[in-house]
Amino acid sequence: MKISVVGTGYVGLVSGTCFSETGVDVVCVDVNEEKINLLNSGEIPIYEPGLKDIFTRNVEKNRLSFTTSLKDSLIDTEVIFIAVGTPPDEDGSADLKYVLGVAREIGRNMNKYLVVVTKSTVPVGTSKKVKAAIAEELKTRNVSIPFDVASNPEFLKEGSAVDDFLKPDRIVVGVETAKAEKTLRRLYKPFLMNGHPILFMNILSSEMTKYAANSMLATKISFMNDIANLCELVGADVDMVRKGIGSDARIGNKFIYPGTGYGGSCFPKDVQALVRTADEYGHSLDILKAVESVNYRQKEILIKKIKKHFGENLKGLRFAMWGLAFKPKTDDMREAPSLVIIENLLKEGASVVAYDPVAQEEAHRILGDNISYAKDEYDACLDADALIIVTEWSEFRSPNFRVIEKLMKSNTIFDGRNIYDPEEMRELKFNYYSIGRAAVLI
Ligand SMILES: NC(=O)c1ccc[n+]([C@@H]2O[C@H](COP(=O)([O-])OP(=O)(O)OC[C@H]3O[C@@H](n4cnc5c(N)ncnc54)[C@H](O)[C@@H]3O)[C@@H](O)[C@H]2O)c1
Repeated sequence: MKISVVGTGYVGLVSGTCFSETGVDVVCVDVNEEKINLLNSGEIPIYEPGLKDIFTRNVEKNRLSFTTSLKDSLIDTEVIFIAVGTPPDEDGSADLKYVLGVAREIGRNMNKYLVVVTKSTVPVGTSKKVKAAIAEELKTRNVSIPFDVASNPEFLKEGSAVDDFLKPDRIVVGVETAKAEKTLRRLYKPFLMNGHPILFMNILSSEMTKYAANSMLATKISFMNDIANLCELVGADVDMVRKGIGSDARIGNKFIYPGTGYGGSCFPKDVQALVRTADEYGHSLDILKAVESVNYRQKEILIKKIKKHFGENLKGLRFAMWGLAFKPKTDDMREAPSLVIIENLLKEGASVVAYDPVAQEEAHRILGDNISYAKDEYDACLDADALIIVTEWSEFRSPNFRVIEKLMKSNTIFDGRNIYDPEEMRELKFNYYSIGRAAVLI
């Protein structure tokens, strides 16, 4: 089988590479020439654990190639995946210009039957628009070529994308015809070895499943953040509460960790887009509106704690920041809580010296020289008035506190990820603020 994958971002590149690992011939397409040149020179433009190895292996076996020409990629292709970005429009709804642009290009260039699969996260009803865009181009060409559309939302997580793709919890596919179902079942068969299901459904349900899944996960995070904030007020410890509720099988212990709010390229935009979809249908998704506003507030929670400790005036203070990416094991900074914290600190006249194991280059692209970048976590602490922990990289979990203490001006830590034990911090003689637990003051 030969397939095309359009868009070589986190989703497209990982999907294309993992499909090639099963023996399928994959051509990845992107409009970004720089990216394609980089990929053709054997480099990958994103940080994703485990990707480089299978990328190199499959390129060497000539099963994985890269081009800027969608037209060329269509030669002998049976299935084409659309995996381009769907960023939020000004009103929060998903901007479909890239998805529909690709659909039109497919219509302009296809010469035989194709299954056109939307893998990008798109609002309910988008596949109909993809189908109409292709049909319109075929009509303009005055040709009649059969094709099927399908929806196949992606559930991989940045940081464990390769593993998630190779061993998915489930694969969701929306189809309209038995022919498309048969083709996609054949393509995905090698990924079903761990016994997890491929769920075929109608296209509208498949499109909805992706938004419902991300919105449920975002809801868990905002719920737990709100409970954490209340825990602090009433004197409860959110760690205990988390374990207490998580051991109930109906609740489960995953995704109930409090923090500095959710970020990344998916949850914020997908929650917003689902709220807009509901509005269009005259239905107010009040739960998700609350999820969004709690998250917005939570991104400033550490600033509140910092001001409580230092007073309203932060001018001249120097903050060390550990972690810039929106979560560990990725260089993705989209909607990262670190950006909100940095913006607030700079606005107040403070300075920031940050360290992130992989996101510094991306951070520099966004923030330029507005902050300083340290060579390691200890370097960031030099002369700092406080340390702020924003991303829970595992290398931050057991640092040498005696070294930190010597480097910093004062022993003060604001931990947005609850990675240390407050009692240990008391023994180590650090002022220690975390989320949903009593502050330690020495
Ligand atoms: N990043 C994630 O963790 C994740 C997970 C699941 C689903 N998704 C969804 O998958 C989609 C892609 O996300 P991403 O993070 O990979 O995006 P991304 O921004 O990293 O990559 C998108 C790529 O598409 C390319 N592109 C844009 N227009 C094009 C065109 N006309 N032809 C060819 N290439 C084009 C861009 O140059 C870019 O390389 C989004 O809808 C997103 O919501 C993302």
